[in-house]
Amino acid sequence: MTYNDRFIRACRREQVDRVPVWYMRQAGRYDPEYRKIKERYSLLEICKQPELAAEVTLMPVRKLGVDAAILYSDIMNPVASIGINFDIVPNVGPVIDNPIRSRADIERLRPIDVEGDLGHVLETIRILDKALEVPLITFAGAPFTIASYLIEGRPSRNYRLTKQMMYSEPALWHALMDKLGDMIIVYLRKHMEAGGKAFQLFDSWVGALAPHDFRTYVLPTIERIFDELADLPQPKIYFPGVSSGELLPTLERVRADVIGLDWRVSIAEGRRRLGGRTAVQGNLDPLVLTAPQATLEEHARRILDEGMQEPGFIFNLGHGLFPEASLDKLRELTGYVHRYSSDALAR
Ligand code: CP3
Repeated sequence: MTYNDRFIRACRREQVDRVPVWYMRQAGRYDPEYRKIKERYSLLEICKQPELAAEVTLMPVRKLGVDAAILYSDIMNPVASIGINFDIVPNVGPVIDNPIRSRADIERLRPIDVEGDLGHVLETIRILDKALEVPLITFAGAPFTIASYLIEGRPSRNYRLTKQMMYSEPALWHALMDKLGDMIIVYLRKHMEAGGKAFQLFDSWVGALAPHDFRTYVLPTIERIFDELADLPQPKIYFPGVSSGELLPTLERVRADVIGLDWRVSIAEGRRRLGGRTAVQGNLDPLVLTAPQATLEEHARRILDEGMQEPGFIFNLGHGLFPEASLDKLRELTGYVHRYSSDALAR
């Protein structure tokens, strides 16, 4: 089998013979084999065993036929190295022992030591670099999304404490953004040196901000992250998360190759708001996966027809897979995207 570089070519807006596809959260609980492994080990225990983490990364690639792998890890993993104790609580998400509330809490954060504290992540990437026949995407959480967990101490609906710090103590907020930005830049560079073929910055919750506030409080750090990593040859993806359509026009100076779209904005409208400067990725509502096959294909077809109007399109969901998704449906969807797009692109 030859190396499948369709995903990389699409990131670079080059011609492809069919549209590449991968799924956010493609390793996960919809897969009975994954649930078996989770009966024995927690997410963090899997991450600390590179051979096992690599295997869990490979499972969806084999089963679904996707064109890219995404490293099995979590956005919270690097914060262990800067001095935050946390756990990933099943059916809840990240829970922090010592939430950040004061200047002293921020001053205590240490610089990240990737080799010292996160060597297992680099080892997993090295194993995958040898094993994979598709590109490996690695990732980091973006500063706002990580900060929301660090400040709230757990998943949140309104980001009350997060916004309170942002609006009431902007100097503290910017100090935290700076420290998280530094952490992310070092962490992602190490991933790429270890063999990662692309990275995605997940800003899952930043769509909670008005465009004006995003520009003031978050965007400078996003721009700095992509500027400081611009020398890396690997494609770079920014995913501004759910409800981010209104933020797209503000991303003008972000040096990402690909922007991830959620389902509230069409692919054509997303491209328009981005000024046609980048490749785009998305954006099926993951709950469409619960619909009958014909409805699922109708939704996928509409996305593909818009996506294929220009080079630089990667099929994905608009947010992560949920545990109730089915392996069979996902496999069929992957096959459908490949068949429909290769027919259309051959014409
Ligand atoms: O995509 C993949 O397959 C790679 C693995 C991956 C995980 N987390 C493993 C995981 C990725 C890319 C992430 C990113 C992540 N983690 C994000 C950004 C993506 C998004 O969904 O917006 C966020 C916000 C987190 C924080 C987090 N971790 C949440 C909200 C949860 C869900 C809690 C739950 O139980 O429903 C987690 C846990 C988590 N991370 C799971 C997985 C597979 C599910 C629980 C498990 O299997 O142990």
